[in-house]
Amino acid sequence: MHPPSLDKTATFLALEDHHGIAREWKLRDLFADEPNRFKEFSVDAAGLFLDYSKNRLNRKTVQLLCALARERGVEERREAMFNGEKINTTENRAVLHTALRAPRGSALEVDGQDVNHDVHAVLDRIKLFTDRVRSGEWLGHTGKAITDVVNIGIGGSDLGPEMVCRALRTFTHPRLTMHFVANVDGHDLDAVLSRVNPETTLFVIASKTFTTAETMLNAGSARKWFLQSASEDALPKHFVAASTNTKGVTAFGIDAANMFPFWDWVGGRYSIWSAIGLPVALAIGAEQFNDFLAGAHAMDVHFRSAPLEQNMPVLMGLIGIWNRNFLGSTSISIAPYHQDLSQFADYLQQLEMESNGKRVTRNGDPLNYETCPAVWGNVGTNGQHAYFQLLHQGTDVIPVDFIIALKAAHHLPGHQASLLANCFAQSEAFMRGKTAEEVRTDLQGQQLPEAEIAALLPHKTFPGNRPSNTILMENLTPHSLGSLIALYEHKVFVQGVIWDVNSFDQWGVELGKVLAKNIQIELTGSTQTLAHDGSTNGLIALARAAL
Ligand code: F6P
Repeated sequence: MHPPSLDKTATFLALEDHHGIAREWKLRDLFADEPNRFKEFSVDAAGLFLDYSKNRLNRKTVQLLCALARERGVEERREAMFNGEKINTTENRAVLHTALRAPRGSALEVDGQDVNHDVHAVLDRIKLFTDRVRSGEWLGHTGKAITDVVNIGIGGSDLGPEMVCRALRTFTHPRLTMHFVANVDGHDLDAVLSRVNPETTLFVIASKTFTTAETMLNAGSARKWFLQSASEDALPKHFVAASTNTKGVTAFGIDAANMFPFWDWVGGRYSIWSAIGLPVALAIGAEQFNDFLAGAHAMDVHFRSAPLEQNMPVLMGLIGIWNRNFLGSTSISIAPYHQDLSQFADYLQQLEMESNGKRVTRNGDPLNYETCPAVWGNVGTNGQHAYFQLLHQGTDVIPVDFIIALKAAHHLPGHQASLLANCFAQSEAFMRGKTAEEVRTDLQGQQLPEAEIAALLPHKTFPGNRPSNTILMENLTPHSLGSLIALYEHKVFVQGVIWDVNSFDQWGVELGKVLAKNIQIELTGSTQTLAHDGSTNGLIALARAAL
């Protein structure tokens, strides 16, 4: 049963009516009129605190949005996901990243298979292996302990492990340096190989399918590089894999004993909790990897059980719908005020855009409304000195998610207070803006002549009324990071249900892959006639001359 088109539903139409009034609201006035706004529009869950009061909404907006979520079947679809129903219909697969972080003993079967048993059997193997590497018991082929781990993967097999390893930098084993190679551009692998010693390097080949062209090329080149100074017998000590494709892994020359499996019900961009998290477990150890899983599980429990009105991922999803489908925002900016979260926006880009960047319903009908906005961002305070100008005074209104830990992991005096002050000041500035009258008073205070004041006034005025969320955590730890990622996963799920898209396939990346294969043959082979458009033929001809 497929729901009616979103834009035809009674609640959507009621929200459109409501928007007719809401679009006149000024956040400044809402705060002045509602002293309890912060308390009313904030929620605590799984170690995170979300302040969503700086959005252009009131109690009625939240009621209507929650009614929309009910009408679209968010609660039923959520149960279907947690219960392992095959909700990824175009690939006929269950979607069970939540099962990857369920505690031992949680019963769940998919196709007659005890999922919890399988998940924990792999986690046990990850523990055994990572304990050996970290303790120095696992030795390279010349008897030396591992000092460098090189993860070779792309997309979900790279972004998750890299983002999390960076975020948990302060928890990393002091002997281990983590490296990540994703790009088919040989400069990526070359830069890493020039820094590591084959005797003490462990390569993790991470690929769900073990067929992804970039990863296969990089893995093959790493293998050749390694074999320049070692024999084939040495490979098992230096190459392991995380994959669902045992045949592919063994054909590559990796011992099945050194392959950490996962399953087709784990989507690439949801795979950090699976064997794809092996580099994380190597870096921070199995116990802390378990804390990371536990943080995500705590958010799962909250998402599954809290009433929609107090449900953090549901509210985040609904605010996104309000901003996108009613207030018309075309992108959202992610601003983590934490240097160790420098990859977080990149990670969310895949999570949100590969999941909900869709133009047809689950049924295949074209959509009459907008889906996923573009997702982008960088750490604060750096972004403030680059693109925040546009966020404050540009012609587009771009909602921002501020993310910050109250406490720092360093002891450098003054830095944390300055970071927090900047973060809070930005969301205040987006909300309040600065009126022409305020600017005039400032400039008059500086004794500027009237003509100069008049000329400067429009440039120094800030419209304000720009929405933001602020997510706070006590500290950035494996647990809080796990909760944070799960929060966004479920936000994406909620939005996918409301938009009625399949959030779990990614057919849109296939066409380019097929074309690239053909063009590569034309670039390196002897084919003379090029059957592309004029531009592509011209570019290929130029490249052929250069290669
Ligand atoms: O091309 C997109 C994609 O399929 C992503 O969804 C996935 O995370 C990435 O490629 C890598 O795939 P694999 O893990 O199979 O190498």
